[in-house]
This record gives sequence, structure tokens and C-alpha cells, in this order.
Amino acid sequence: MKILVTGGAGFIGANFVHYVYRERADWQITVLDALTYAGNLANLDGLDENRVKFIKGDICDAETIDPLVKGCDAIVHYAAETHVDNSVQSPWPFVQSNVVGTFQLLEAARKYDKRFHHISTDEVYGDLELDDPKKFSESTPYNPSSPYSATKAGSDHLVYAWIRTFGLQATLSNCSNNYGSYQHVEKFIPRQITEILEGRKPKLYGEGKNVRDWIHAEDHSSGVLTILENGKIGETYLIGANGERNNKDVIQLILKLSGKDIDDFDHINDRPGHDLRYAIDSTKLRQELGWTPKYTDFEQGLKDTIEWYKQNEAWWKPQKADTEAKYREMAK
Ligand code: NAD
Ligand code: DAU
Repeated sequence: MKILVTGGAGFIGANFVHYVYRERADWQITVLDALTYAGNLANLDGLDENRVKFIKGDICDAETIDPLVKGCDAIVHYAAETHVDNSVQSPWPFVQSNVVGTFQLLEAARKYDKRFHHISTDEVYGDLELDDPKKFSESTPYNPSSPYSATKAGSDHLVYAWIRTFGLQATLSNCSNNYGSYQHVEKFIPRQITEILEGRKPKLYGEGKNVRDWIHAEDHSSGVLTILENGKIGETYLIGANGERNNKDVIQLILKLSGKDIDDFDHINDRPGHDLRYAIDSTKLRQELGWTPKYTDFEQGLKDTIEWYKQNEAWWKPQKADTEAKYREMAK
């Protein structure tokens, strides 16, 4: 099996490449990544170049992707602009990479009749009330709130159209909030861990009542591989691990695990349009394809993640100052 992984030098894409590398020793992996501010070639360190080939390139560039799609058996499409706060400041790169980039890949996959798996997010469904007994499922109507989630929703709709109109052999998955190693320090959990490591206080948006449904990136990878191998063509599967926590609780747990006073954090301005709650019902993936998450102890997973950032300062230090400067600009 030869797979083309777009965005494989980013957080979740790289975790997937490492996972497949370990779990499917006879597969060849080509990573296509533009190495934007979020991509990092070091995320692929330690992998044998005979099995994992890296190509620097943009998914929006039809000439770059054509031979890569032609030469693979399946495309697993992670590449995207992914940070909600950035999409509020500057939506255009999100339209370009998430919508136009997905379009170009779909066209190439159609031309060469290739298997396509599209990575999407639970944010396409909008948000839930804190006390809503219903979680997101495959039949929840789309209702995106941010420029990021609107462009991800747009990309999902393109995939559905290519399946129905052109018979593309595609599946989709919509996953909840990931955590683990290699996550950029702009994102909530690594931002707080590294603020503490640099001697500053964690930063909570608003009151911190917003709930996210946390899943370890390794469990996301096992879900995607399950769908790629056994998913029914044309179908969507939600990936989630019953990991709902509000942001204040997560910050306090990070403080506790870092040996700090759990009230030693700052409340800062809230995100415009901030989604209140995400929650995934992953029954379909569990019952139809037999998938189960492994990393269900969030406290242990967080402890390991804090340890990874402690041990890998050289990885995150170069991103940190620019990221905090960007946040200071946003706050003006
Ligand atoms: P990330 O920002 O860490 O990585 C994105 C990667 O895509 C980077 O390596 C970047 O260089 C690359 N990229 C961006 N635009 C590109 C382009 N035009 N051409 C080629 N490469 C490009 O993102 P992530 O958190 O790893 O998310 C990966 C995917 O998973 C995205 O599609 C995202 O929507 C989805 N997702 C993320 C989460 C989450 O919690 N982070 C949850 C569900 C779904
Ligand atoms: O649900 C899946 C989505 O999860 C993915 O599709 C996105 O790509 C990914 O970025 C993530 O989106 P969120 O907006 O939920 O994640 P973020 O890490 O930006 O923020 C998580 C929560 O923490 C959110 O409620 C905002 C809050 N927050 C974030 C930051 C950066 C803070 O309170 N303080 C912060 O400093």
C-alpha cells in the first residue's frame, strides 16, 4: 500500500505517519506538506527515508499534486489551516488551503480514481448547550461558527459532492479536540504548558466554561487507519473518546501536574464567536468498525504530554516568542 499523507508534517498528520509507520511495516508513505508556520520537518525525525518520503509543496498547486496522486493508492488528507483564532484575524488562507486545496486534491483523485480519506472536525456542527443530552453524531446538521469551521464544512461538502456526482471512493471522519506530542504552541494545551515552563501564568479565555471533548492524537490515528482500511465508501465516521472537560478544569489540572497553585492563571479576553461545547457520539465507528480508544485516562495523557514538552524544549522554543507576539497583536 502506498499512501499520500497531506499535512503530514503538522501535529495530527505527523502522529498518523508515525502510527502507520509502526503498525503497517510494509506500507510506503509520501508526505506532502507546505511547511507553513504550523509544519515542522522535525516531526518526522527518526523515520526511515526508504519508507517515508517527504515532498515540500502546496495542495493548491495542481501540478505538484498530480504525479503524487497518480503514484499512490490512497490519499489521507490532513493539510489545512487549523487555528480558530488565526481564522478570525485573517480568514483568506483558510479559504485557500481548506477549500481550494481540498478541491484540487479531489480533482486529482477523481482523475486517477484513487481512494480518498478526508480528515475533518467536529466544529462543522457548531456548538452544543452545556446541558444538551444529545452529542454530535453523523446526522447532526452542519452549523459552523468560525471562518475555520466554515471552510472545513465547505471542504466536507466538496467531498460529499465528489462522492455522489463522480463516484469518488471516499470516506470522511470528523474528530474532536486532539492533544499529545508535536502540537503547535498556539493551541490551548501546549500554550498553557509552555507558558508555565517559561515562568508565566496560563491564559484562560473568559470564564473557562467552554467544554472540549479531548482525544489523544494516537487514538485519532487508530480511528483513521480503521476507516481507511474498513470504512464503507461514501460514509462519515465521528471519532471521539468521551473526553469532555471544561477549559478551567484543564488549566487547573495542568497547573496541578506542573506542581503549581491551581488558581495561578489569568482570565483574558474571550474569543469572538467562541463555541460553547463540543461532544462526540462515536457509536457508529465503535459498533460498525470495532474501534475503541486506548488513551482514556486524560490525566495520565496530560502528564505524558507535559513531560514531552519538558523534554523537547528545542522543538517548541523557536515557535514560542512569535506565537505570543501574534497573540499580543490579536489582543490590541
Ligand atoms: P496543524 O496546523 O498542526 O498542521 C497542519 C499541517 O498542514 C501543517 O504541517 C501545514 O504545513 C500543512 N499545510 C497547511 N496548508 C497547507 C497547504 N496549502 N498545502 C500543504 N500543506 C499545508 O493541524 P492539525 O491540528 O494537525 O490538524 C490536521 C487536520 O486535522 C486538519 O485538517 C484539521 O482540520 C483536522 N482536525 C484537527 C483537530 C485538532 O484538534 N487539532 C481535530 C479534528 C480535526
Ligand atoms: O474540535 C476540533 C478542533 O479543535 C480542531 O478542528 C481545531 O483545528 C483545533 O484547533 C481545535 O479547536 P479549538 O478552538 O477547540 O482549540 P484551541 O486549542 O484553539 O482552544 C481550545 C479551547 O481553549 C477553546 O475553548 C479556546 C480556549 N483557549 C484557547 C487558547 C489558545 C483558552 O482558554 N486559552 C488559550 O490561550
